[in-house]
Amino acid sequence: MPVAIITGASKGLGRALALGLAGKGWDLVLDARGADRLAETVALASAHGTRVTAVAGDVTDAAHRAELVTAARRLGGVDLLVHNASALGAEPLVRLAELPLEGLRRALEVNLVAALGLVQEALPPLRAAGAGAVLVVSSDAAAEAYPTWGGYGASKAGLDQLAAVLAEEEPGLRVWAVDPGDMATDLYAAAVPDDDGPRPEPEAVVPGFLRLLDERPASGRYGAAALLEGRR
Ligand SMILES: NC(=O)c1ccc[n+]([C@@H]2O[C@H](COP(=O)([O-])OP(=O)(O)OC[C@H]3O[C@@H](n4cnc5c(N)ncnc54)[C@H](OP(=O)(O)O)[C@@H]3O)[C@@H](O)[C@H]2O)c1
Repeated sequence: MPVAIITGASKGLGRALALGLAGKGWDLVLDARGADRLAETVALASAHGTRVTAVAGDVTDAAHRAELVTAARRLGGVDLLVHNASALGAEPLVRLAELPLEGLRRALEVNLVAALGLVQEALPPLRAAGAGAVLVVSSDAAAEAYPTWGGYGASKAGLDQLAAVLAEEEPGLRVWAVDPGDMATDLYAAAVPDDDGPRPEPEAVVPGFLRLLDERPASGRYGAAALLEGRR
């Protein structure tokens, strides 16, 4: 069975993706800081009959990242690395004039630096996999200039560029940056607590991600909405 590492898998999109992949027969290594909620995801994903390993920790911790890859090697290797864990930098979001620099540093550490650390750790087994893939979860805020989304958006723009360069440097891999679109999750509620407008549950965008994994289009930046509609 193919093996995927998914960061930030205790809730939201990461959990939905874990369940979607388990349903397709993927073995999984799952990460999040909170062990209890992560254990709930493991129980739900294991019900699909695949092997699921939880490794609780913070993606900014190099030793934890190494543990994730070691756990995947125990399951046979790394066919897919999904960097989904994310930090906003300020909760709720604030304009750049008020953004604490510590918050920006945290967003960069979680969203960008940890992504590269994990890629570096996982590259040997990804290259050995034959059809290895890296999927980083991006955002509309990486490409559009929305007030208050500047620090987070800058970190996601950096992540997009990191993915684009990685794709050039590692032509044997697929490297996708995917904008999932707005979703009703804790992250969105923390970002903009007053915005309780309707938005899709994360489960609704998972078929778009699964389509990407089935069809394996060229490395690049994709939007879940287009993938869901059968476009690219
Ligand atoms: N929701 C949206 O509207 C939206 C829109 C565009 C893009 N996105 C992106 O979609 C992805 C998923 O977000 P979501 O909305 O599903 O968020 P979410 O429901 O808040 O889930 C975030 C997950 O990441 C984990 N996490 C956070 N910081 C971590 C760290 N330092 N180390 C390890 N795990 C960590 C959380 O668990 P712990 O707190 O226990 O660690 C949780 O499992 C993110 O990359 C986000 O930027 C979301």
